[in-house]
Parts: sequence; C-alpha cells; structure tokens
Amino acid sequence: MKIIAINGSPHGKRGSCAQLVQRMFAACEAQGAETEMIALQRRRINFCVGCGKCLSEGVCPQKDDVLEIQDKMRAADGIIFASPVYVMHVTGQMKTFIDRCLPMGHRPSLQGKYAAAVSAYAGIGNIDAVADYLLHFLVGQGAYPVGKVCAFTTNIAVGEQDLEKAAQLGRDMIEAIRQKKTFNWEKLREKTKEFKEMKEFITERKDFAREDYKYWQERGWIDGKKPS
Ligand SMILES: Cc1cc2nc3c(=O)[nH]c(=O)nc-3n(C[C@H](O)[C@H](O)[C@H](O)COP(=O)(O)O)c2cc1C
Repeated sequence: MKIIAINGSPHGKRGSCAQLVQRMFAACEAQGAETEMIALQRRRINFCVGCGKCLSEGVCPQKDDVLEIQDKMRAADGIIFASPVYVMHVTGQMKTFIDRCLPMGHRPSLQGKYAAAVSAYAGIGNIDAVADYLLHFLVGQGAYPVGKVCAFTTNIAVGEQDLEKAAQLGRDMIEAIRQKKTFNWEKLREKTKEFKEMKEFITERKDFAREDYKYWQERGWIDGKKPS
C-alpha cells in the first residue's frame, strides 16, 4: 500500500503542513503502508504556458518534474494534497502544479484511489475553502474522499489536537483502502454542473481537444455508449 503526499508549502518538509502529513504518515506506516512526501518547493515545476497541447496531443511538451509526480499519483493507493492558506487560497507552488495537471482534470484517472487534504493557516480567512478545493480537485478525477484536516498554527507549530486529527485521517485512509470503499463517482459527476460544462467543452471543441474527446468516448461519457 502506497500513500503519497504532495506538499505545496514553501517550508517544505519542515512546515506545519509537513508536520500534519508526517503524523498521517506515522499512522499509515503503523498499518504497514509505504509513504512518500513530495515537497513541490524542491521540484522543478514550470508555469503552464496555456498551449493546450495536453488536450490536443495528450502530452505536455515541458520537460520538468511534473510528469514524474503525476505518475507517482497514479501509482499510489492514497493521495494527500497539502497546502497552507496563502492570501485566501493555496500557495503559488500548489496552484502551479495543479494548473499543470489540467489534462488529469480533463481525462480523470484517479478512480480507485483515496484522497485527503491537509491545510494550515494563521487564523485569517476561510481555511476550509483551501482544503475543500484540494479535495474537490482529486475527487473530480474519481478519487474517494476520505477527509481533510485544517489546522490553526502559531509560528509553524501545530497543536497536538490537530496532529491527532491528522493521525486519525491517516487511519481512516488505510481503513478506506482496506475496505475498498467506493462511491458512485460517475453518477455524482453526471449531476454536477462542472461535468456537463466539461462535456460541452470537449464535444464542441473535439477537433482541438482530440485526446480528451477520444478518452471520453472510449468510456462512454459523451453519449453513454462505449465504442464496440
Ligand atoms: C504569503 C503568505 C500569505 C498568507 N496568507 C494567509 C491567509 O490568508 N490566512 C491565514 O490564516 N494565514 C496566512 N498565512 C500564514 C500561513 O498559512 C501559516 O503560517 C501556515 O501555518 C504555514 O504553513 P506551512 O508551515 O506548512 O507553510 C500566510 C503566510 C504567507 C507567508
């Protein structure tokens, strides 16, 4: 069992988000899981340049660490996204990475994975909004939502209560994986405005978003019929 955490904090492996993730990891490791934290701060992740090649050709022409991280997400059983609140949103490091994951949003491939979100803040704004955004991104691709931990921090230090919540989230993740918990993602997606808008986008622009159209058609998401 492999659990991976993508941490968007510039404090990398020393910050509040890292402390929360480490506590989750300790709980997961106690149940025999293998863990890995990727600190985006230490990786080479270029800005998306908006060329759209990921939608038309299926691959991003940029040569940096993004593909390797995405492959690790697809190979993991559990995926944790972590970010502190930075001016009411995720950090630039996390947003840059998420923007580069555009093709994953267009061609969802995380069904059968388990997702959790971790966020830390200093007390200003809506901390839940950041964790909810991170979870929403992963659930949109089919990952089962295990839960989130949002922690108030002072000078990076995280309180024991929040660390215990993180440990519990780690245990919940292992339990969900072991029990193979499922939810009807396709049904949920079909009801959401986002899914309908994406379907319209891909259908109307099928000459441009060729790889998306092919992917959706193969899965019967365009008209409910899979090609024979
Ligand atoms: C540029 C910047 C913007 C921030 N914006 C907010 C904010 O809007 N609300 C808040 O509560 N904390 C804000 N913080 C504080 C961080 O969220 C907080 O220190 C957090 O614990 C850092 O987590 P980390 O150690 O994992 O990086 C900000 C910090 C920085 C440096």
